[in-house]
Amino acid sequence: MNNEQLKSEIIRLKKEKNAVILGHYYQRDEIQELSDYIGDSLALAQEAQRSEADIIVFCGVHFMAETAKILNPTRKVLLPDMAASCSLAESCAASDFAAFKAQYPDHIVISYINCTAEIKALSDIICTSGNAEKIVRSLPADQKIIFAPDKNLGGYINSVTGRNMLLWNGVCTVHDAMQAESILKLKLRYPKASVIAHPECNSALLHVADFVGSTKAMLTYIAKSEKKQFIVATEGGILYEMKKQFPEREFITVENQEGGVECCSCAECHHMKLNTLEKLYACLRDESPEIVMDKALIEAAKKPIVRMLEMSKQLGIIK
Ligand code: 13P
Ligand code: SF4
Repeated sequence: MNNEQLKSEIIRLKKEKNAVILGHYYQRDEIQELSDYIGDSLALAQEAQRSEADIIVFCGVHFMAETAKILNPTRKVLLPDMAASCSLAESCAASDFAAFKAQYPDHIVISYINCTAEIKALSDIICTSGNAEKIVRSLPADQKIIFAPDKNLGGYINSVTGRNMLLWNGVCTVHDAMQAESILKLKLRYPKASVIAHPECNSALLHVADFVGSTKAMLTYIAKSEKKQFIVATEGGILYEMKKQFPEREFITVENQEGGVECCSCAECHHMKLNTLEKLYACLRDESPEIVMDKALIEAAKKPIVRMLEMSKQLGIIK
């Protein structure tokens, strides 16, 4: 089948099976085009929780599909490619983390949603890049906190809040590899551009950014900004939505430069890109691969995620 045939088959199967496709901003363009909802981790978790579809096809990575299953366990949750993992989730093994946590019994654990269900089950509150700062700020100043697994996001929150959270030593290899030097060269070439960066980037890069925020927050920032050019430091898949929403603006990445600019060639998450039209079609047709989880793990991992969603509502981050 060619791409057009695959697309019409996916749309047909989706209707026939009462399925919904949730897609992350880092997915391939053609998958974003077919998604019923596109969003950041926080919006997609919320959408998964409220979904009444019989089947949720999660076009993202494993921890996201797992979160959908935890929040809506009676639905069948499918992930087109089970190998779609995440370097952050992989950096934090449950046994190692449990041993680390045991050394600090007076600390609570805030975990970034980019972790396995086992880590969520060991956590008190989950956060995403869209709510992490506000959640941390809402806790008493003397509350001792372990933040896992992203040391860049945790370090950024420490720097803006003045906290001293203990950080697990994990990184998103895609964002961490982006270099401040590449951004500075782009700034010289585009002096009027605003630099927008994801908090998974390293601290040197965040230092030269004009705005730091989640994928959704970047879109909101562009909407409010009067700038015409933006240097974008995050995974390249977001450009699809940026160009769609703001066709008159120019988006510059370390990736799309022709000559002259040293490029770190890393702005693509190979995990996110594992999902393809062919795999999406096969997954809807076969209703597989499916996320299957132990009931006790679902219950234990659900508590800190629900706490995150409730806090996000109380703090006015989501409705
Ligand atoms: P957000 O969708 O929360 O911005 O996170 C980006 C990311 O890396 C997801 O894996
Ligand atoms: Fe994980 Fe980074 Fe890929 Fe997001 S971009 S899924 S954090 S490896």
